[in-house]
Amino acid sequence: MKVTVVGAGAVGATCAENITRKHLCEEVVLLDIKEGLAEGKAMDMNQCATLNGFNTKVIGSTNDYVSTADSEVVVITSGIPRKPGMTREELIGTNAGIVQTVTENILKYSPNTIIIVISNPMDTMTYLSVKSSGLPKERVIGMGGLLDSSRFKYRLSEAIGCSPLDLQAVVIGGHGDTTMIPLIKHATYNSTPVTHFITEDEQVKVVEETMLGGATLTKLIGTSAWYAPGAAGAFLVESIVRDQKKLFSSCVYLDGEYGQSDICIGVPTIIGKNGLEKIIDYHLDSAEKVKFDASAVAVRNMNGALKDLNLI
Ligand code: LAC
Repeated sequence: MKVTVVGAGAVGATCAENITRKHLCEEVVLLDIKEGLAEGKAMDMNQCATLNGFNTKVIGSTNDYVSTADSEVVVITSGIPRKPGMTREELIGTNAGIVQTVTENILKYSPNTIIIVISNPMDTMTYLSVKSSGLPKERVIGMGGLLDSSRFKYRLSEAIGCSPLDLQAVVIGGHGDTTMIPLIKHATYNSTPVTHFITEDEQVKVVEETMLGGATLTKLIGTSAWYAPGAAGAFLVESIVRDQKKLFSSCVYLDGEYGQSDICIGVPTIIGKNGLEKIIDYHLDSAEKVKFDASAVAVRNMNGALKDLNLI
């Protein structure tokens, strides 16, 4: 089995490395437009085989899509990352053209693959990939909610003083600083609502810190984060290639679910060997519903820029 990761920057390389450590496939192709970058990082990763104990072979490629042929799953991370003070949305002008070209090239050699989109602004890039690939909606999945939910659990664990592994918590909506919706009333500490353990003020703080999770890291590091985004990409690949049917939030094309159509946005999903296997209908209260609709308006406005750029 082969998995391709497009973009050998920090997120792409971390995703590929996590895939090797989890033994998810025989071959990972790491592809980048920059001469030698993917080959170099692939060689570096291959030299970890005896240290980390894996048999996965990493193949680096400078923009040669022939090497990606017959990939089961393709993860798209290409594009420029955020700089401090930038929103994910400001990246659209540069990243949209890149994501569209990558999608078209991938499909020439892997026409039935499952595409995972990580490039930002992720909801709009996923929508663009659905539109330009013509793939069934089950086979194009944006990775954002999984990462945001992991950051949510981290913040909750700090506030409660427990292990993140004992928490169940989901973020839905767009993957933007103002569009994501951490569902705090649905979150539990091993089945007990987290709202039993922290005050209302603490809950507000956790939600705010979760929403600014990416921006906080960008400010500290000087560029976008990569450990958790790369790990989340590999986690999603694992749910597909091992047919785990895990339930987590992903950005998928909606056809009436949650009252929305013709949009890709984060909702609870089950992910297995066919990609998106099911969208789960959470019972949102009216305040959550208002937030979800507002998030959809913002994502739809961003999608409008694709028309201005003549990409859809
Ligand atoms: C982040 C980027 C990957 O949230 O969107 O870190």
